[in-house]
Amino acid sequence: MARHLITSALPYINGIKHLGNLVGSQLPADLFARYMRARGHEVLFLCATDEHGTPAELAAAKAGKDVADYCAELHEVQARIADGFRLSFDHYGRSSSPQNHALTQHFAGRLADMGLIREVTEKMVYSNTDGRFLPDRYIEGTCPNCGFESARGDQCDNCTKQLDPTDLINPYSTISGSTDLEERETKHLFLCQSQMREKLQAWIDSKTDWPVLTTSIANKWLNDGDGLQDRGITRDLDWGVPVKKGGEDWPGMEGKVFYVWFDAPIEYIACAQEWVDAGKGDDWERWWRTDKGADDVTYTQFMGKDNVPFHTLSFPATILGSEEPWKAVDYIKSFNYLNYDGGQFSTSRGRGVFMDQALEILPSDYWRWWLLSHAPESSDSEFTWENFQQSVNKDLADVLGNFVSRVTKFCRSKFGEEVPAGGDFGETEQALIADLTTRMRAYEQHMQDMEVRKSAQELRAIWVAGNEYLQTAAPWSTFKEDPEKAAAQIRLALNLIRFYAVISAPFIPDASASLLAAMKTENTSWPDDVAASLEALAPGHAFTVPDVTFRKVSDDEREDWQGRFAGKRDS
Ligand code: 2FM
Ligand code: ZN
Repeated sequence: MARHLITSALPYINGIKHLGNLVGSQLPADLFARYMRARGHEVLFLCATDEHGTPAELAAAKAGKDVADYCAELHEVQARIADGFRLSFDHYGRSSSPQNHALTQHFAGRLADMGLIREVTEKMVYSNTDGRFLPDRYIEGTCPNCGFESARGDQCDNCTKQLDPTDLINPYSTISGSTDLEERETKHLFLCQSQMREKLQAWIDSKTDWPVLTTSIANKWLNDGDGLQDRGITRDLDWGVPVKKGGEDWPGMEGKVFYVWFDAPIEYIACAQEWVDAGKGDDWERWWRTDKGADDVTYTQFMGKDNVPFHTLSFPATILGSEEPWKAVDYIKSFNYLNYDGGQFSTSRGRGVFMDQALEILPSDYWRWWLLSHAPESSDSEFTWENFQQSVNKDLADVLGNFVSRVTKFCRSKFGEEVPAGGDFGETEQALIADLTTRMRAYEQHMQDMEVRKSAQELRAIWVAGNEYLQTAAPWSTFKEDPEKAAAQIRLALNLIRFYAVISAPFIPDASASLLAAMKTENTSWPDDVAASLEALAPGHAFTVPDVTFRKVSDDEREDWQGRFAGKRDS
């Protein structure tokens, strides 16, 4: 039994996330966490809301709310929706927690002691109209790297380059739209990332098994020269972690806070402390301190590609630079973008399906299945309603759902609601078991490797194999000449339902639970031995015919939803 620490990128607090956000980190992280638990490993799966910085302040201002109240409210909303999607976090924390304040201040103090922080008096953009400095998202303009016209002050959404507000061409205030801007002097703390280039390069080079998407982005910024510039880690903002050195005041830094990207990843650690303080666990250090047992933890992070530079360079600079025994990430699984029906998902324009809306129209398993089986791994992928309808109707309703319904109904009508006795498995059954054994080992390998699409394909092939068996065995015909043989066939098929429930649970946990309930079993042991697992439900074991496991999406619904989510959400 191994120990797996798993984190998903922390969603910004500024509103409800769309399906593209979900499939880019939280959902595949959940798939992996559920799989690892199912295989008997010890898992700590953490996520939290990312509550600081300009995204939070801007969203609160737009909602006309105090920023702390806004964050508390939106945290509850996001937690409830995460629950609705059955995201099985061991703790869903908050980057604004007291634990994260203390730990962020600890890291800053420690980095200063290690000589990795310097104070810089720099020119920052000041808006005369707004009467304030304009950090990060308070300012937009043209990206000097790619020419994208609404690049933010901290990062270009188009080319992922990390920026400083003063880099932007034709900048304007996002508060007032004003271009009456000037540069004024202010003092900030800089993290001396450039001193760590060799250390970071050696660390990245040691990660030979990382996905190409992850290492190519990391190396691009390392080698590009300015990806590892010293960067400001403080801001002139009201909301955030106050700049302190451990618990002490930091002279000259009064009224300033840490940059959101400095404190957010530290929340991965603080979240484990929150988990303990909430009474859900009793030892966070054995997950995070290599001097306290975290040496044998495997730590995997999930994130969208825009987050990769921060997780391969900035956060490791904090962790490695501290020279304290913190657990560093072992594997970073990153994702491309999911597009929506011929364009992009857009939070500002309300284009695409948002997590709350998705759950209003269909249960979470329908979404989990489509999103995971179309995860944007090797390239960007696209959500279309036609494709969604087709996947749901074919994979879930026709293949899996129909199998369950035919088998249970046929058994009820001929043998009653219990697993029938009699008959033996013949050649067809042995061939099925051999095929399923090969496929299961492939499925396990893909799940272990976090090859999300390949895992879904193999799982679907396993469902299809059962359908094909049923078609070939045709117990409804066999029954007429050889009821004993039909009994053996149906016994196998009923066992397949339990088998499917167990192995499909990481993808479709609710359907899996209702299938197990219908089969009146709590036996969820993983089928290491396929043949044995297909005899788990013994003759005489009672079951019930479940309600429709998956329903079909009609053409009318598809058209209706297509229109409804084309732009501007109603709220
Ligand atoms: O891009 C984002 O949505 C960020 N909120 C991700 C933060 S991940 C972590 F470092 F906190
Ligand atoms: Zn750009």
